[in-house]
Amino acid sequence: MISHTLVVLLLTQTPPASSAAAPSDDIAEAYVARCSGCHTVGGGALKGPDLAASTQWPRASLRLAVAKMEKNVGAMTDSELDAFTDFLLSPELRPRLEAARAAAAQKLQAKLDPPSASTGEALFEGITRLDGGGPACSACHRVAGIGGALGPDLTHLSGKMDEIGMVSAFQGANFPVMRAAYAGRAVTAQEAVHLAAYVRSKKDSEVQTGPYSLVIGAGVGLGLATFAALAALLRPRRRQSDRNLDLGRSNQ
Ligand code: HEC
Ligand code: HEC
Repeated sequence: MISHTLVVLLLTQTPPASSAAAPSDDIAEAYVARCSGCHTVGGGALKGPDLAASTQWPRASLRLAVAKMEKNVGAMTDSELDAFTDFLLSPELRPRLEAARAAAAQKLQAKLDPPSASTGEALFEGITRLDGGGPACSACHRVAGIGGALGPDLTHLSGKMDEIGMVSAFQGANFPVMRAAYAGRAVTAQEAVHLAAYVRSKKDSEVQTGPYSLVIGAGVGLGLATFAALAALLRPRRRQSDRNLDLGRSNQ
């Protein structure tokens, strides 16, 4: 799939900062780019099950399960299937995953403009058009009370997925309805980074109390559509400061 090729290219083009100390772990980075949007290892279920249990499976069963993922990630060669299977069975799985996530975050940071929640908000709501010409996320998704309801509410997404997982999921369009909507017009890595910053900022802002969250809270609590519309009108158009990718967070 084009979007995955883009991520993989992105992840493989920049040499690691300290290549002598940490040789690049290609399959771990491919896993982060192609699989971690739907799976954690020990961090709970996302779209797909937590893979902690399946790392204990016999190799043949695990390889079959990985092969079934072609429906999600596109075709894999035999050697890729072997490599993903062996990666999941590796006793070093967790540290390798951690290192690959950190490397991926670093490469995203090096190659792209820093994440901007306000740019992400404009993209999410369709105020800025997506480069590929795909529909705005808010056509189908809600964040903090604003947007459509065909897809799941994304307000708390960043509680279960870290930035790298979100960036991978946003570009991958691995969900059937979205795959159709973004076929041939994939979200770019840069757009995904801004969108992730926006989703993240909404989760953070919900923790604060203030008139804005009270309005949203009342709207949700009373379940009145008019309240949601009012909240949209009252919503302050404040600038949100850029956020850097947070390397400390992980969902493995
Ligand atoms: C779009 C989301 C998605 C992506 C991307 C994805 N998976 Fe999955 N995965 C699932 C779902 C859903 C299941 C549950 C079984 C099914 O649907 O076949 C699953 C099941 C599995 C299982 C079996 C686990 C179990 O406990 O049943 C393994 C192993 C697995 N995936 C590995 C991978 C690998 C490796 C990749 C990357 C190459 C990957 N997955 C990419 C969604 C995804
Ligand atoms: C045409 C409607 C549509 C558009 C546009 C759309 N999505 Fe989706 N999205 C969906 C649907 C429906 C699902 C649930 C799919 C499923 O369960 O298989 C989904 C699922 C997701 C998920 C997984 C959520 C979870 O809790 O596992 C993420 C993340 C996501 N979308 C992000 C986005 C982003 C970011 C955009 C904008 C770039 C976007 N979507 C645009 C319809 C859409």
